[in-house]
Amino acid sequence: MNLDRSVRVKASVLVVDDKPDNLRLLSTILTDQGYEVRQALSGRMALTAARIRPPDLVLLDVKMPDLNGYQVCEQLKADEQTRHIPVIFLSALDRSPDKIKGFSSGGADYITKPFQESEVVVRVEHHLEIARLQARLERQNAQLQQEIRDRIAMERELLRSNKDLEQFAHAVSHDLQQPLQSILGFSKILSLQYSQLSEAEVGKYLWRIVQAGERMQQLIEDLLAYSQVDVSRSLEVVNCDRVVAEALDNLQAAISQTGARIAISPLPTIKGKSAQLIQVFQNLIGNALKFTRPDVPPDIDISVELGEGEWVFRVRDNGIGIDPQHYDRLFQLFQRLHLSDRYPGTGIGLATCKKIVESHGGRIWVESKPGWGTTFFFSLPKL
Ligand SMILES: Nc1ncnc2c1ncn2[C@@H]1O[C@H](COP(=O)(O)OP(=O)(O)OP(=O)(O)O)[C@@H](O)[C@H]1O
Ligand SMILES: [Mg+2]
Repeated sequence: MNLDRSVRVKASVLVVDDKPDNLRLLSTILTDQGYEVRQALSGRMALTAARIRPPDLVLLDVKMPDLNGYQVCEQLKADEQTRHIPVIFLSALDRSPDKIKGFSSGGADYITKPFQESEVVVRVEHHLEIARLQARLERQNAQLQQEIRDRIAMERELLRSNKDLEQFAHAVSHDLQQPLQSILGFSKILSLQYSQLSEAEVGKYLWRIVQAGERMQQLIEDLLAYSQVDVSRSLEVVNCDRVVAEALDNLQAAISQTGARIAISPLPTIKGKSAQLIQVFQNLIGNALKFTRPDVPPDIDISVELGEGEWVFRVRDNGIGIDPQHYDRLFQLFQRLHLSDRYPGTGIGLATCKKIVESHGGRIWVESKPGWGTTFFFSLPKL
């Protein structure tokens, strides 16, 4: 028989028979063919041997004392570790019901004794090949499923960034238009009516142009900061006490101007990007210093609480508050609830906070009582 030897050398067959003579004969046949053969003289020995080191195939006698072949097969099929092993029954029982019993206990094939040597060899090889193909199919299937999962995740990410981009483009074109219109409008007046205008009027229009230009510059700077929030995950160990200290340093002018009182609880060390986390605190504390009630100096609390696997940070103020209907809108680009002459700003701060917090694997949200104050919350994964 011309069977592929290289494949057979690797296959191990467990031969189970309570008669030593039968075991010897089958072992010789299979060893001659290049198989690694292990022997078991009883059903129990066979189960132990198969569990310790699962063979590639089991040749199983049906009639044995104690556990018979059908029972052994059923137990092999009930065990996750051995259920994939093909079992071929060997039996002198030649009646159809016996064979059916063999198949219904999970057997792959049935050879009747006395057997032809070549029949045993061919059937063993045949079932090993089926098992090999089956294993390959399962591997490929698992690989395909992983690929599908990866693709779905990628698609979701793509959709999200597409949506981001859309919102970004819309907001940019819309909000940069406003100061640009002012610059163009006032420049046109100046160029067309320059000779009729008084010096004071010229000065006023030039000042409006400068202001619009500065606003555009601020918008572009903030947008750049927003778009440069790096969502890749090379994070460092960050001490949040230091992060807040730095944010407060940057806000020193506003703090002394407003006479704010700021209380800070001890904060944890987390994994993140220090420069970005400074930006988050700076934006939130900056807002708390800005959206204040007339004649009520800002009173700001910065604290943290341990949640499930995460830290929940809090920045609470006693300012003008926010109507709950606007909670979601606040975190979108350019969304502002207040006129810029009373409360200057570009409306990019909270969108940037959201982007940074989410890129750290956290969430950001707000609770407020209009007229009393606002608390911003954000979570970051625990170290
Ligand atoms: N602590 C707060 N109290 C009351 N309103 C707030 C507070 N923080 C934010 N808001 C409202 O949410 C809007 C969006 O805030 P965001 O920080 O994104 O923009 P901004 O402060 O106006 O501008 P920017 O931060 O880009 O300079 C603000 O314009 C304001 O209407
Ligand atoms: Mg802000």
